[in-house]
Amino acid sequence: LFAGAADFIASAPNVPALPPMKGVEIAFAGRSNVGKSSLVNALTGRNTLARTSHTPGRTQQLNFFDIGGRLTLVDMPGYGYAAVEKTKVEAWTDLIHNYLKGRANLARVFMLIDSRHGLKSIDTDVLDGLDKAAVSYQVVLTKGDALKKSEIEARIAKTREALSKRPAAYPEILITSSRDDRGVPELRASVARLLAE
Ligand code: GTP
Ligand code: MG
Repeated sequence: LFAGAADFIASAPNVPALPPMKGVEIAFAGRSNVGKSSLVNALTGRNTLARTSHTPGRTQQLNFFDIGGRLTLVDMPGYGYAAVEKTKVEAWTDLIHNYLKGRANLARVFMLIDSRHGLKSIDTDVLDGLDKAAVSYQVVLTKGDALKKSEIEARIAKTREALSKRPAAYPEILITSSRDDRGVPELRASVARLLAE
């Protein structure tokens, strides 16, 4: 699946600009700078497919990528970035809500959480929204290269506990790194299982 073509489809700054639904769609969500765009690149093995940056707030629109004609990946703008103007935050929130609620072919949202920081209150707010709207999501811990093994285990245990009573959470938590590729094969397998369903 990921060995074939990966192509940019469209950037959507608002709901009317959303591209037509095609195949199974999965979206990457999370706080600004958590590593969404980097993980899309790691997953597809294309280092320049999604634009990444040291500066939070890099991705400002929903970016759609076609994978082999059967799968669409969506790199979402990050949330929780304080330096963005209020009107912009409102527009993004509106876009993201409308997208998440109205996308019939959206099979799963990968909710990226920085493994160094864990779930923040803004993340739990987003998870509340997904649970309420019954949008299926799976937590992916990012930047696993920045932690020791014992710290990773503690983070997974804590995250598992926090997710245990959430109805829309997929039970498996992935730990990944776009730097050393750990967890990327598992993430690919998770996506492949969604396509097989
Ligand atoms: P926004 O688009 O602003 O919401 O950010 P994003 O979530 O798309 O993050 P992006 O992929 O642009 O990466 C943000 C920063 O984190 C960059 O400086 C990356 O180099 C760094 N980064 C991404 N993935 C990893 C990782 O696995 N390990 C480490 N150590 N750094 C990472
Ligand atoms: Mg990004």
